[in-house]
Amino acid sequence: MTFSRAIKIAPSILAADFANFGAECRAVEDQGADWVHVDVMDGHFVPNITFGPATCAAIRPHIRGVMDVHLMIAPVDPYIEGFAKAGADVITAHMEAGPHIHRTLQAIRASGAKAGLALNPGTGLDGVENLLGLLDLVCVMTVNPGFGGQNFIDMTDKVQRLRAMIGARPIHIEIDGGITPDTAPVMARAGADVLVAGSAVFKGGSVDTPAPYGDNIRAIRAAAEGAIGVAV
Ligand code: DX5
Ligand code: ZN
Repeated sequence: MTFSRAIKIAPSILAADFANFGAECRAVEDQGADWVHVDVMDGHFVPNITFGPATCAAIRPHIRGVMDVHLMIAPVDPYIEGFAKAGADVITAHMEAGPHIHRTLQAIRASGAKAGLALNPGTGLDGVENLLGLLDLVCVMTVNPGFGGQNFIDMTDKVQRLRAMIGARPIHIEIDGGITPDTAPVMARAGADVLVAGSAVFKGGSVDTPAPYGDNIRAIRAAAEGAIGVAV
């Protein structure tokens, strides 16, 4: 994974056909996705359950690029090794998931994966400064985690302040929740480079009719790149 601040579109397979994950991952990558975002939920940290490391390992061979695993689970530490062994390139844990986020990030790095920190909408940037040396990515949640298809919560100010705090460090800013061609521009302008989108990518398509995935990905990318002055 070479670091770049170019806009990356990361479809969330939470909005894919759960009976067809392999084909869905191949389809979104063929249609222009940069990363594949994998939402792991435990029914405890968030009020919904998805899947665990075995499913991640099963879909890994169907992803050519970056497998971006977002852990919405508590505790996190006992499962890090399992997700790393499943082939996660990035493992993101929530600041709110336990009292020892520093240890969690150390463990993610030690597992060989890139380390991500997710912040719920109600969580501020206090404490992030102390973690900068351990971070490869900060995920600013623009919904309360647990479900796809929710309304965007504007976190412009948080993303701008985070972007200033990061400076020249090679740390991605990811935004997750309610991202569409309408909401992507303001987040890109604020400094986000990884745009997670579930419903807005998968709507209108299927593994048999994947062209809408491409249209949707291009629409989000064009809106974001247009906002930061990339020629599109
Ligand atoms: C929310 C998840 C998101 C979500 C994105 O808990 O972390 O990745 O599925 O889905 P949309 O784009 O539909 O809000
Ligand atoms: Zn997510």
